[in-house]
Amino acid sequence: MPNILPIDMTGLGLQYSRLKNEIDQAVTDVMQRAQYINGPEVCVFAENLQKYLGVKHVIPCANGTDALQMALMALELKSGDEVITSAFSFIASAEAILLLGLTPVFADVERDTFNIDCTKIESLITPRTKALLPVHLFGQGADMNAVQAIAERHGLYVIEDVAQSLGSVFNIGGGMKKLGTIGDIGCTSFFPSKNLGCFGDGGACYTNSDAIAERLKMVGKHGAKVKYHHEIAGINSRLDTLQAAILNIKLKHLDEFITARINLANQYNKALKNIADVELPKTAGGTTHTYNQYTLKVKANMRDELQAFLKEKGIPTQVYYPMPLHQQKVFTDAADVKFHCPVSEQLCREALSLPVSTELKQPTIDYIINGVKSFW
Ligand SMILES: Cc1ncc(COP(=O)(O)O)c(C=O)c1O
Repeated sequence: MPNILPIDMTGLGLQYSRLKNEIDQAVTDVMQRAQYINGPEVCVFAENLQKYLGVKHVIPCANGTDALQMALMALELKSGDEVITSAFSFIASAEAILLLGLTPVFADVERDTFNIDCTKIESLITPRTKALLPVHLFGQGADMNAVQAIAERHGLYVIEDVAQSLGSVFNIGGGMKKLGTIGDIGCTSFFPSKNLGCFGDGGACYTNSDAIAERLKMVGKHGAKVKYHHEIAGINSRLDTLQAAILNIKLKHLDEFITARINLANQYNKALKNIADVELPKTAGGTTHTYNQYTLKVKANMRDELQAFLKEKGIPTQVYYPMPLHQQKVFTDAADVKFHCPVSEQLCREALSLPVSTELKQPTIDYIINGVKSFW
């Protein structure tokens, strides 16, 4: 095996080595000041991210799953209310809906983009529908023009799950906006492998509404606006000062990270375009793609074989996702309703994500590309 091995999916250790001086200094400062909870770095990070996103409020919290839960709680949805979301995604969004006693309603996705198929949403709307929760999967935006139009027609809230697409931009009604700042609330994750990742768990909600921001802050602080005066049942969800300090450094590099992801995806696209059994990722009109994941569609009966073949060569890959949400036991046990999402089901048989890192060097990229090609 060549000396570029081992290859890892994310290259986070190499990224740390490159930023080590800046990050170590920021971490040491926090440790010496010893304000580990709600230190000044948290506020500074919220302000920095607000500026980067062009949004009025950023409310940091403990992780992306909490951000989704806080969003649903802040909108005061009631038990039995229905929230429409994507059938092909990580579980967090649908799980937060179910945990709060709300009903997740699954819409199928578009084959090309892996994102919610907006033509399928309106037939799922009932008098109990209160919100739409599109997930901007793998780095590109769901069709927010269509989502917003449907929400306006039916008086629904919009919560954007932007955990995988922080930094992507969307053309909404002719103006460019960062994903997550278009609906009522955007929810993101700073899980280490995300576009902007910390060194543990972290997340945030964004909103342009003062009233919603106030409510989100209260929900994340045990339901209190004023310390020890609890108005509603909330949760404890804070971003650690240490993570905020690291995120302040990494945010300065976010656009450079995104450029590296896009350059890598362009190389994969160019090199793999003529393989008949493979469909390359497609970017929809109106959105940029930041390639949190570079996900191929491989003819169903070949995907697992390709994955095993690459593993033999030391090339890691991941199946995001092997089972659609509407077929997960947790949701089928919760309700008798059968959702018809054949595209999601097929994508679960075909999707295969290649390594995406901001640090991959040319010999490693060539090795991955040649590895994939040599399967055919
Ligand atoms: C689309 C999506 N939403 C939500 C989350 C949850 O984020 P966290 O792991 O920070 O709770 C993730 C994490 O992988 C995700 O990919």
